[in-house]
Amino acid sequence: MKLFIDSGNLRDIEALVPLGIIDGVTTNPSLMAKEGGDPRAIIKRICEVVKGPVSAEVVATDWEGMVAEGRDLAAIDEHVVVKVPLTRDGIRATKVLSDEGHRVNVTLVFSPAQALLAAKAGAAYVSPFVGRLDDIATDGMDLIRQIVEIFDAHEFATEILVASVRHPIHIVEAARLGADVCTCPTKVIDACFNHPLTDIGLAKFLQDWEKAQAARKG
Ligand code: G3P
Repeated sequence: MKLFIDSGNLRDIEALVPLGIIDGVTTNPSLMAKEGGDPRAIIKRICEVVKGPVSAEVVATDWEGMVAEGRDLAAIDEHVVVKVPLTRDGIRATKVLSDEGHRVNVTLVFSPAQALLAAKAGAAYVSPFVGRLDDIATDGMDLIRQIVEIFDAHEFATEILVASVRHPIHIVEAARLGADVCTCPTKVIDACFNHPLTDIGLAKFLQDWEKAQAARKG
């Protein structure tokens, strides 16, 4: 399963990429608004750092506007994936942009039927939001299970990109269900590193080592 960073923050992205665990980045208008500055310049810089798929979202709501904005975003860098919302206009824009050879990530997906529409329109990625479903007492991972089943049964090439991730269990469950990608805020990726037994074990190794060195020196 590929791991993407769900962030527009360059510093966070630059800190994680050298670890060799990051395959791409997703952004959305809320994340970009939080960063301030020139969104195009930020997207360009993220592409240079990550050298993998970087989703940049349109803000137009009519299909012609989405297509124009999508072409413009795709021109920023070869790594840009155009992100569009799952609306009727979004699906129409997905079809046009995909036919032109642009990769499209269809976002704000909350049902298997929506995911099916995105795949039919030629989306490269479909982004179901697990956390926002969990927030309203609906099992987000059950949506992933259903989409995996549908895409496998019909051999859709569209990749399932699990979004709205809130904790490491979402990452583990996404991987177990066979999702293609999981996009995570940096704090969730950071949380995956931590285990108290790792800290205790390392402290003990180093302590034993120091003791042995001291004994050797007499
Ligand atoms: O980028 C889309 C998605 O990951 C948003 O997550 O936490 O705002 O529900 P969240």
